[in-house]
Amino acid sequence: MPKKILLDCDPGLDDALALLLAHGDPNIELVGVTTVGGNVGLPQTTRNALALREYLHFEKVAVAAGASQPLSGETRSAIQVHGESGLGTAALPEPILAVDDRHAVDFIIETVRASPGAIHLVATGPLTNIALALQKEPAIARLVASFTIMGGSFTRGNATPAAEFNIYADPAAARMVFDADWQVVMVGLDLTLQATATGPVVERLGRLGVLAHELILPLATFWAGANQSGANQFDAHNSNGHGQAVHDVCAVAHVARPDLFASRPARVRVESTGEFTSGMTVVDFDSPFPNAIVPVTLDVPGFWSYVERVYSIVAEQHA
Ligand code: BDR
Ligand code: CA
Repeated sequence: MPKKILLDCDPGLDDALALLLAHGDPNIELVGVTTVGGNVGLPQTTRNALALREYLHFEKVAVAAGASQPLSGETRSAIQVHGESGLGTAALPEPILAVDDRHAVDFIIETVRASPGAIHLVATGPLTNIALALQKEPAIARLVASFTIMGGSFTRGNATPAAEFNIYADPAAARMVFDADWQVVMVGLDLTLQATATGPVVERLGRLGVLAHELILPLATFWAGANQSGANQFDAHNSNGHGQAVHDVCAVAHVARPDLFASRPARVRVESTGEFTSGMTVVDFDSPFPNAIVPVTLDVPGFWSYVERVYSIVAEQHA
């Protein structure tokens, strides 16, 4: 039985690559996509999700739009990382089909309640929609099969020295999400910076024909391109020096292939008020009261071989 994934995202270069993985893996059933403002504003993240749905032909999967602003504080963006459109240089046709008429928060609650114990909820953007869903229906915490985020870290940040972008963009929401009655799988920066599209990876991805040239390479190499023009000041925060990180792909991969990750239980708390540390995830691996599972090591060759295999399935259909 394929695993049912509901993806809450802010596409976003790596969100789009994560969506491509969730759509293409025959062992995953993508049951819905919800959008949140983050990398770019909500109208644009929603437009990007709709455009990807039509370009990749998963028209039967609903796309529902959610929160445009964090629960409190300033609205952040990462246009300097993802480009004005959010999808770098990928140019997808304008979508025709409409967004779902439910708010993302209601869509999440209804989808989880309709299949108790079966939905793997994955969040790859700021956690605003998830926090609002928990506030409205706390029972979803016990009804999901699992809850995985790309966000946080235990050694460093990227939006600031202390904070990773998705947590930094809505620390109050992240705090509520980590304090809820579930176990959060926190796929953070320490893990995702191991998963970079190195030269050999890009070369292999480049063999995937039209899909590679229209979508995968523009998404997976945008930062490298931006760097050449000197425009990207964030590269050190989204790369290990050997290619662009595909952060969000790791969260979907963790649901499908947990065997590729070595993980540790931890108690994670979110700093939401610190002058220099707002959005920091404070991770205690020694706590007797863990609320999270934190993947720490990735089988990098195994990861790319899995991702490339799935992308090649989609590429064949797309040829
Ligand atoms: C995270 O922030 C966003 O810019 C990316 O899409 C990813 O979800 C990495 O810190
Ligand atoms: Ca994202």
